[in-house]
Amino acid sequence: MKKQYSRKKPLNGTYRPLFHLTAPFGWINDPNGFSYYRDKYHLFYQYNPKGEKWGVMHWGHAESMDLVNWKDLGIALYPDTKYDNFLGCFSGSAIEKDGSLYLMYTGVPFLSQIQLLAVSEDARNFKKCPKPVIGSSNRPPHSGKFAFRDPKIFKHNDTFYSVIGASYNKGRQIALYKSEDLKAWSFIAPIKLGTTKTNGIFECPDLVITDSGDILIYSIMNTKTDGIRYQNVHSSVYELGKANPLNGSFTPSTEPLEFDAGADFYAPQTTTLPDGRILLIAWMQMWFRKIPTAYLSHGFAGMMTLPREIAVSDNKLVQKPAKEIFSSFPSCTFSLSDTIKDELILPVTHPGAHMTKLSSPFDSSFSLHIHKGDACYTEIKYNNGFLSFNRELSGHPISGSKLCGNPNIRHMKISQSNTIELLIFTDKSSIEIFANNGQTMSNTVYPFPDSNDISIFSEEGAKINLEFYPFVETSSN
Ligand code: FRU
Repeated sequence: MKKQYSRKKPLNGTYRPLFHLTAPFGWINDPNGFSYYRDKYHLFYQYNPKGEKWGVMHWGHAESMDLVNWKDLGIALYPDTKYDNFLGCFSGSAIEKDGSLYLMYTGVPFLSQIQLLAVSEDARNFKKCPKPVIGSSNRPPHSGKFAFRDPKIFKHNDTFYSVIGASYNKGRQIALYKSEDLKAWSFIAPIKLGTTKTNGIFECPDLVITDSGDILIYSIMNTKTDGIRYQNVHSSVYELGKANPLNGSFTPSTEPLEFDAGADFYAPQTTTLPDGRILLIAWMQMWFRKIPTAYLSHGFAGMMTLPREIAVSDNKLVQKPAKEIFSSFPSCTFSLSDTIKDELILPVTHPGAHMTKLSSPFDSSFSLHIHKGDACYTEIKYNNGFLSFNRELSGHPISGSKLCGNPNIRHMKISQSNTIELLIFTDKSSIEIFANNGQTMSNTVYPFPDSNDISIFSEEGAKINLEFYPFVETSSN
């Protein structure tokens, strides 16, 4: 019998996102099992239904027709076997085989991590396989039993593969396994090795093979800050290159590059759609943060980013919002094409949920204030190739542990171009920026009530084209 959880406290909707996935109540972290199955998008997530803090992990589950409206389907995996009942069902992925949906995930029994499988015929009921599919005896060489997690399955030339994060002596590795039936797995090689003095591994690895280049994705625990880069305690990166799944080699053609320059982006996971597009979604939060919806007792904490389409073009990663998202922003209610100097307040027609498109010459400089009210605003500042985001005065304070510098200011250097083009998605408690279709910044913000204005100004004067699209609620589920 499935255990039912109910909310302990009333839910406060002030910061509940309108077009991002969050749990009905409780805590969420990593996206898991992102897949397209029987004509619907499925997204599972690391879930603690018992409170707004991390706890023993379940898999929450939601499905969607349009990547905007998510229907909650309750809990797919409970920590209810001897293989997962210590810390729960950790991250993993999903893939369809012969009409069934398979979930591969990490079980955490006492002091170990092993890989488990569950199968569903209807994306409603999930049956766990009785034994681990990769147990302690089949761990990658040189790995320890405490850190071996987050299997991401993919299919290539009719064979299933899984990349899994693990330790490697005193360092870390991404281990590649293969299987013909998703049940019997054999180790191929470490597809990536790394050193660490901090005991952290490469979490949530992913490998995407495309005709224009392959993408190795992983989240590095305990990254060292490097100028404006790696400002978060843990950072999600990608390397472009050429993978050979047969021998487990990956020859990089770029250095590891941060996926997103914001303060809230971790553990991204991809899925490849039947039409060939690659979608990626990440947890829009960061470890070691005091999250306002948790300390204000709003009944939930954590949400996902917008799903993005990613692709490789000329050895560069292209990232844009999934095209489905745009139908929720159907009409432009305000536009301007002018030289802006003094502060201009835009007529915002939807409090707290909208998309702003902006373009300006690359060498210009201007600032936007979003979620602006009497007592708060969030600043996005652009100055000749540098974009910065400042949420120090954005509303309820967000503090972080000393491990990660200032959790409120982030900077990004934009690759040289003729223009700067920004696409800014604002939801009740987040602002995601896509710059020139490739570089992104995702951040949460918790503005005080009635802080809904947007303003723009430029000390030097800047030629700005701007369009404003309010979010329009639809329900397609
Ligand atoms: C990453 C992570 C994963 C793990 C999960 C536990 O955020 O630490 O490595 O499976 O979260 O919730």
